[in-house]
Amino acid sequence: MPATVVVGTQWGDEGKGRIIDNLAEKSQMVVRFQGGNNAGHTIVNEQGEFKFHIIPSGILYPHVTAVIGNGVVVDPRVLCEELDTLRDRGVSFDNLRLSGNAHLIMPYHILLDSAHETQLGKRKIGTTKRGIGPAYTDKAARLGIRVQDLLDKKILRQKLDTAIGEKNDLLEKVYNSPGVDRFEVMEQYAEYADRLSPYIADTSLLIDKALKRGEEVLFEGAQGCLLDIDHGTYPFVTSSNPIAGAACVGGGVGPTKINDVMGVCKAYTTRVGEGPFPTELTGELGDHFVNKGMEYGTTTGRKRRCGWLDLVILNYAVRLNGLTGLAITKLDVLSGLDQINVCSMYEYDHDGVQENYIDFPPHQSIFYHCQPVLQSLPGWKADISGVRKLADLPVEARDYLELISEEAGVPVKMVSVGPGRDELVEV
Ligand code: IMP
Repeated sequence: MPATVVVGTQWGDEGKGRIIDNLAEKSQMVVRFQGGNNAGHTIVNEQGEFKFHIIPSGILYPHVTAVIGNGVVVDPRVLCEELDTLRDRGVSFDNLRLSGNAHLIMPYHILLDSAHETQLGKRKIGTTKRGIGPAYTDKAARLGIRVQDLLDKKILRQKLDTAIGEKNDLLEKVYNSPGVDRFEVMEQYAEYADRLSPYIADTSLLIDKALKRGEEVLFEGAQGCLLDIDHGTYPFVTSSNPIAGAACVGGGVGPTKINDVMGVCKAYTTRVGEGPFPTELTGELGDHFVNKGMEYGTTTGRKRRCGWLDLVILNYAVRLNGLTGLAITKLDVLSGLDQINVCSMYEYDHDGVQENYIDFPPHQSIFYHCQPVLQSLPGWKADISGVRKLADLPVEARDYLELISEEAGVPVKMVSVGPGRDELVEV
């Protein structure tokens, strides 16, 4: 069963894109199964740098079928823009397939996302304002407009008419902000329909057929496990399930088809948006990570919050995803530090009684108020970006990787030491 799921083990931005890019080379199909253009990944290849938000990373390989699965929410404007970029740079996208069951992000979803954040004020979630939450809300409320509705313009017009009426009421009367122009939206979406129709397919069937042919299928997770709507740091989460189990739902395959789950973990921790972050570093050390790791969001350009690696979170990710392998990214960013800390446990003061948590706390209030217990390891000074074999890493770096692997109980299979496609150590 050659199906592998790749997921983020932290708050997203773990560098999944470049790991997927590496694995995609050996795959015949790459499937995105959740999220939307709130995600962003950068791939550097011989043609230069590519930034994708919605198109699966595998698109750059002509032998790969790049699938946008039913669990994704698709902003057709962004998808068309990414297709334009590929066309302008001479990259074929004949191999793109888009699930008819995926839901569409509409202009009113984007306006509602912003209006809701504004209304929340200080209690805002810090969303990417891409309309993700409102689109998934409509999906659950059974009010959504799906990709397959693009195939029948009459139905599309009827559905849009009903939806826009209701959403404009909401925008204008509840949020006191302008609604969308009904005719403009209808015209725009009719154009997207013409453009995207050739790529619409029954992607669950395509995946099944590929697996039956014995092909390698890679499921590409977006965001990370602590942004999971069920298991993450709710309410500071996204509106989908970025954990491995969602690959089955969002791709349309049964769980018995999945044989490997690769967790991507940055060698330290980052987070964008609001919410608790026990190992967060401010000041000079935090700036070291921001500057050396170029920790600015691919989607929103926001500066990421940075901190030490948190093994309590990693072990939670191991549990939630059933990880069979780990890819540690950005190890090179730690080079030059005298010492490296990792969090192995939380301490929580419960009315004067101290409680210790080696497992992720089941209550958000505990996670909010806990203190990380840090373990120190010696750092290394050498530039490791040229290293391609594990044995050539400084002993301190190898010890660091061994500690991660031992604590997680999962083997480290890949380590990235720089942004380039080849700056990778395969273990
Ligand atoms: P939304 O997904 O735009 O609704 O945003 C909800 C939360 O998830 C916010 O804290 C975002 O910053 C965060 N988020 C969403 N997508 C990503 C991502 O790809 N990387 C990191 N954080 C993300």
